[in-house]
Amino acid sequence: MLDDFFPVRLNTIRPDEAITFDLYLKLTTRYVHYIHCNEELEGERQKKLKSHGVRKVFIKTADEDAYLSYLESGLSVLKNSNLDIASKGSIAHDSLITAAENAERILETESGFNKQKKQFEKVSEFLSTEKGALKSILASAGVSMDNNHHAATVSSLCLAVAAKAGLEDKTEIFELGIAALLHDIGKNRLKFNYMKPWAEFTPAEQKQYKNHPQDGADMLAGKPYINPRILGLIAAHEEKGEGRGYPEKVNLFKKPLTYQILSMVNAFDHFCFEENLLAAQAIDPFFEKNGQFYDESLISVLATVLT
Ligand SMILES: [Fe+2]
Ligand SMILES: [Fe+2]
Repeated sequence: MLDDFFPVRLNTIRPDEAITFDLYLKLTTRYVHYIHCNEELEGERQKKLKSHGVRKVFIKTADEDAYLSYLESGLSVLKNSNLDIASKGSIAHDSLITAAENAERILETESGFNKQKKQFEKVSEFLSTEKGALKSILASAGVSMDNNHHAATVSSLCLAVAAKAGLEDKTEIFELGIAALLHDIGKNRLKFNYMKPWAEFTPAEQKQYKNHPQDGADMLAGKPYINPRILGLIAAHEEKGEGRGYPEKVNLFKKPLTYQILSMVNAFDHFCFEENLLAAQAIDPFFEKNGQFYDESLISVLATVLT
C-alpha cells in the first residue's frame, strides 16, 4: 500500500550509525526493503545512492515517531564543536525540508508537534549561537527550486531574523517557524501551473492564486495543534506595507513583528528564485524594489544575517 510509506531525505540518514527504523527504496511501483532497524547505512553506500541520483528514501508510516526522534537527536550534532559548519548547515536545512514535506501529517499529533518544537529550538539555537550558521544553511540550500525547499529556507531565515530582531518568546518564535513551514500549503489546491510567469495567468487563475494564503489557513483550520496565531500568520504572508499585498490588503505595520518577518522573508526568497540570485547577491536589488513595505530596522536585520 502506497500510503503505508512516507519519503525522507537521504541526507537526514546519518551514515555509519545504527538507524531506529526500517529503510526502503522505491522502485517504479513498489517499495523494497533496504536497511533493517538497528543496522547502519554505510557512508560508501550512501554516496553510491547519491551518485545514482537518489535523494529520497522511504520509511513505514508506523515508524514515523521513531524517525522523528532519530531526526531530533541527530540535531544534537549542531552543538558538536568538532563538526564543520558546512555539514551542520546541511543537516539543519535537510531536516527542515523533511519537516516541510511531512508537516501536515506530523503536526496532527501531540508527539509530532512537540518533536517539531524541539527541532526548531535546536535550529534556533544553532542560528543564534554559531557565527556563519545561516550562511551555511543557505549555502546548502542554494536557490529554492520547489515548495518544500522554499518552505525550509523561509523557515530558517525567519528563525535567524527573529533571533537578531530581539524576539525572545519561545512560543512566538516556534509559531513563526511553523507558519513559515506551512505558509504556501494553499498552493496545493491550485489546479494549474502556478510557476509560469504572472503575465501568462488568466484573470481567473490570478484570482485563485491570490487566495492561496487564505486557502492554506482554511485547510489547516481544523487541525488540533495549529492555533489561530499560526493561521493568522499564514493568511497574511503575502500582505505588504500599508495594504499593498493580498488577499485582504491589511496594513502590515499594524500587525505583530512576526507578520512582517514572515512576509519579508517570503518575498525575499521568491525574489531570489525569480531573479536566480543567491541570497547575499539579492539583498540590495530586493530592497530597492521592496524596501518601503517593511520596517527599516527589519531590513537591516535581514541584511546583517545574510552578510
Ligand atoms: Fe505565498
Ligand atoms: Fe512563499
